[in-house]
Amino acid sequence: MTGRVQHEPMTAVYPELPGKAAVVTGAARGMGARFAAALASRGVHVVGADIDSDRMRATAEEISAEPGAVHERPGRVVPTGVDVCDPDQQDAVARLAVAEFGRLDFWVNNAGIFPFAAAEEISAGQISDTLAVNVQGVLFGAQAAARHMQAGGAIVNMSSVAAVRVRRGRGAYCTSKAAVAHLTESLAVELGDRGIRVNALAPGYIDTEMTRWVKEDPAALAHALDVVPLHRLGSPEEVVGPLLFLLSDSARYVTGHSIAVDGGSRHV
Ligand SMILES: NC(=O)c1ccc[n+]([C@@H]2O[C@H](COP(=O)([O-])OP(=O)(O)OC[C@H]3O[C@@H](n4cnc5c(N)ncnc54)[C@H](O)[C@@H]3O)[C@@H](O)[C@H]2O)c1
Repeated sequence: MTGRVQHEPMTAVYPELPGKAAVVTGAARGMGARFAAALASRGVHVVGADIDSDRMRATAEEISAEPGAVHERPGRVVPTGVDVCDPDQQDAVARLAVAEFGRLDFWVNNAGIFPFAAAEEISAGQISDTLAVNVQGVLFGAQAAARHMQAGGAIVNMSSVAAVRVRRGRGAYCTSKAAVAHLTESLAVELGDRGIRVNALAPGYIDTEMTRWVKEDPAALAHALDVVPLHRLGSPEEVVGPLLFLLSDSARYVTGHSIAVDGGSRHV
């Protein structure tokens, strides 16, 4: 699991979180794994769902063994396999959360893929796979969440700085993340009727396996550091605070919003 750092004591604790239940998709590694760990350490029970079910199981075990929980009674992390492109599988994940924990309060649509191809060369398979995972996966997750979640629930979707800043070779990805930002607004408008809030996170360069290519290519790293006003990559832990805020009661009047967690790179 990438990005493992100790929980930082300055992160807010949010006393309303313990005892609640969440689903995090794409939780086998990267930000999803860190989100699952951060929620569990604050007493939230989590179903971690990923297409890589072996790694998901290993990550759940690692999280359960992590020291330094913020809450005296950490939440349980239940691993399961899912392909977010399949609405029936997403519904099964929601039902698993309710069966395990008796409730479903939060859903984090985090699973995503990041293909590279020049605009003229994006293949039919690449664009359909990207939209299937990154956009339809978010929609099907939100639908499953809404079916099984009580009023007062919250959904967070992973958009990206790529929703507002295009870069070469990322046409399919940028298109998908712009769609997630708009889908977040549509879902917020409609699920608001049921008291469910829907927001998005828009990270910039976060140090995970998805962005390993940046660190491996000196030119890409130099460019990345140049376009980030804070001149460094972010860590998965640095996205946890904004996630917890959006899920918490502190954000109870916030819906249909994307929070940039990008070191300022959306402006460059
Ligand atoms: N890392 C970044 O810099 C960055 C920046 C902006 C947005 N994001 C977004 O944040 C999210 C997490 O990114 P990350 O960097 O942790 O990525 P990552 O590649 O490290 O992890 C993504 C996880 O999603 C899972 N996954 C992929 N396809 C799936 C499917 N069809 N069904 C279920 N699970 C699937 C993978 O197995 C993996 O565990 C993604 O949506 C990504 O697009 C990442």
